[in-house]
Amino acid sequence: MTRPDTLRDLGYRIVDQIVEEFHGANPRPVFPAPQTRDAMEAAFGGPLPLEGMEPDALLQLALDRILPAAGNPNHPGSMGYVLTSSSPLPALFEALVAAIKLRPTTWKNQPASCHIETTVVRWLGEMAGFAPDAAGYVTTGGSWANLAALSVARVRKAGWDVRAEGLNGKPQLVAYTSEHTHSCIQRSCEMLGIGANWLRKIPLDKHFRLRTDLLEQAIQADVTAGHKPFCVVGNAGTVETGAIDPLNALADIAQRNNLWFHVDGAYGAFAALVPEKRALMTGIARADSLTVDPHKWLNTPFEAGCILFRDWADLRLTFSLIPHYLQAAMGTEHNQYEYGFELSRTDRALKVWLALRQYGVAAYAAMVADHLDFTHHLASLIKEAPEFELACEPELSICCFRYVPPGVTDPVTLDQLNYDLELALMRDGRGLISGTQLNGRRVLRACIASRSVTRQSVEETFRLLRVLAATL
Ligand SMILES: Cc1ncc(COP(=O)(O)O)c(C=O)c1O
Repeated sequence: MTRPDTLRDLGYRIVDQIVEEFHGANPRPVFPAPQTRDAMEAAFGGPLPLEGMEPDALLQLALDRILPAAGNPNHPGSMGYVLTSSSPLPALFEALVAAIKLRPTTWKNQPASCHIETTVVRWLGEMAGFAPDAAGYVTTGGSWANLAALSVARVRKAGWDVRAEGLNGKPQLVAYTSEHTHSCIQRSCEMLGIGANWLRKIPLDKHFRLRTDLLEQAIQADVTAGHKPFCVVGNAGTVETGAIDPLNALADIAQRNNLWFHVDGAYGAFAALVPEKRALMTGIARADSLTVDPHKWLNTPFEAGCILFRDWADLRLTFSLIPHYLQAAMGTEHNQYEYGFELSRTDRALKVWLALRQYGVAAYAAMVADHLDFTHHLASLIKEAPEFELACEPELSICCFRYVPPGVTDPVTLDQLNYDLELALMRDGRGLISGTQLNGRRVLRACIASRSVTRQSVEETFRLLRVLAATL
């Protein structure tokens, strides 16, 4: 057992490093320097340790070896993927959560954790304009939240007892979504036994939003073929461009065809906090389920996704199965364990609870508004730069653009240049802008959703990108 004074000293050293991460004058690079497998094997691999080592030396070793090989999401130039900065107080508290194994399982065991989770679910539902009294639970992230939504949709809309009878010999279930939906929706269909071929990826309009006319045609074709459409998934901000699908029209189609309507708002749902975006998001209030992801735009530490439903009964119908050995711990209270898949899981809601209580919703609304503003600023810088072009007007805080140096017209060369530029910025370490493909062409993609990003850091990162582009 580690002695109390040693433990205290270890804790202070970790705290010092956390303070450095958030307030250090020289932030670590956004992207780690390239590492070889051999170097990582030397640092972290080796044989199973038969003998232990002193915690003091072990902590130093871990700090020395992990930090150079880890990126820095708190860097002001970090605008890649949907990777946002963290939050200090929830980050600090994580150690205590781990020490006491805080877990939202059964009420009698963990009343605080269970109630914090249901509170967070309710707050997030209200923030996103879903419902003021949402049911749900806090997940590892958006991927798991979307899997949970499709699990419930499958149970609720199949038309037979899926949990008991499975899918064999039954009409083929079919789900619908846009071509730009996150890959976890397809992987959910694969895991749930629906099959990737039965997720219809509906083509997009010129603003990268799902085309509802084609959706209706696809549903009709599947019904005529004797299949069983069960779910439509809309995006409140696609991961590719931030496009918002026509959520109200999707809700109408789902209603007319008796389909479950799920909205993936993992990236964008909290744009509903900003008045000028709210009108585009009103369809969220008509969804049967909504994914939100506090570890994205709310900048909490990992892991904090959340799946929201209208009715606790739907979750219970899908997930509840109480073994004998838990019966005494269940009692009559609300036991979070019954409303999700895992039994043992860490308290993920607390970090959201702490962040919302510390900053308040008004601060988040102001931050999201700033991010939308910075994104438009970046779009205008791109328009002014002759060697860059905007790939599409940003809807939210994702800006897709392309490096098109004068005189280069070959599409393959341009794709390669854009790919190389993404890598050049990663290697530089002072910024991170990731890439994707739009209409078959490689583009750069900045996602501004970190508290650490400022108008100035957006300008500096774009300036740096221009300098790096000139060296290619
Ligand atoms: C729209 C959307 N859905 C789902 C996900 C998956 O979320 P997570 O990475 O938290 O599992 C992402 C991640 O970027 C996303 O942008």
